Amino acid sequence: MMNVATTTTDPQAARIEFRNVCLAFGDKVVLNGVNFRVHSGEMKVVLGQSGSGKSTILRLLLGLLKPNSGEILINGEEVTQFDEEALNHVRQKMSIVFQEGALFDSLSVYENIAYRPRELGWSEEKIDAHVQRVLSFARLGELADSFPDALSGGTRRLVAIARAMVDNPEIILFDEPTVGLDPPTAHRLCEAAVRLRDLEEVTSMFVTHRLADVRYLASHYAVKQADGAVELLEENDRLCLTNTKFLMLNEGKIVFDGTDEQLWNSDDRYLRAFTHEDTGD
Ligand SMILES: Nc1ncnc2c1ncn2[C@@H]1O[C@H](COP(=O)(O)OP(=O)(O)O)[C@@H](O)[C@H]1O
Ligand SMILES: [Mg+2]
Repeated sequence: MMNVATTTTDPQAARIEFRNVCLAFGDKVVLNGVNFRVHSGEMKVVLGQSGSGKSTILRLLLGLLKPNSGEILINGEEVTQFDEEALNHVRQKMSIVFQEGALFDSLSVYENIAYRPRELGWSEEKIDAHVQRVLSFARLGELADSFPDALSGGTRRLVAIARAMVDNPEIILFDEPTVGLDPPTAHRLCEAAVRLRDLEEVTSMFVTHRLADVRYLASHYAVKQADGAVELLEENDRLCLTNTKFLMLNEGKIVFDGTDEQLWNSDDRYLRAFTHEDTGD
């Protein structure tokens, strides 16, 4: 007899929700009543000046920090009161990609990616299938036996993405993954994030202050052709990406939460200073 698993996931349900989250370090208020939701399969691009609390939001999600007040829901579960064991369970559904990928220099690309599956006690066969899958996703196949030292900064970050997705997390957090990369490499990295969003149905938060990232993430989408090839296409004026939204933080508050169209057309001076900045890249 066959067992049919039925899921009752509400596609409209928020995967991530902050409710009135406040956090101060001493008398420095970093988040002052932050509210937002990220829906299943959605990418939330998080903008804001350095020091505005972007990484703090990601650390709160991972349970590395606790808010002073407010609620944080992941898949509808309020996690701020969770103990370490319950948090570890939540963390298993999430991965983070930092600016500095923090790869192990003594391990090959393959072994870096296989690290977490080994910790989870997967069989060699299962590990290999998943490592090969993500190597191919990140187009790193030929580099499996290379060591991180021999790779460019951009390639190391692609390895970090491959590592982050190896156990099929539901949520991937990107903390300024394009900082310091040359434009073509930053572009490749954004492409990988778009493929994760559109083809792997990963829910993500993508922190950046690079306007070129915002433009790319807001306008490109990935589709799989009948022959399996992946194409990245640019939306035209008849199409609007519904799975990508933007948040802007300033002085502890969310000053913008909406679509890219609303972002580009906003009259708000603070937003315009960002959207009309000419970064030259
Ligand atoms: N552990 C900490 N102790 C004290 N202050 C901190 C700590 N972590 C972050 N901060 C402060 O909180 C503010 C927000 O930091 P962060 O979230 O890293 O900003 P962003 O990622 O937007 O650049 C900054 O002013 C930072 O100095
Ligand atoms: Mg940061």
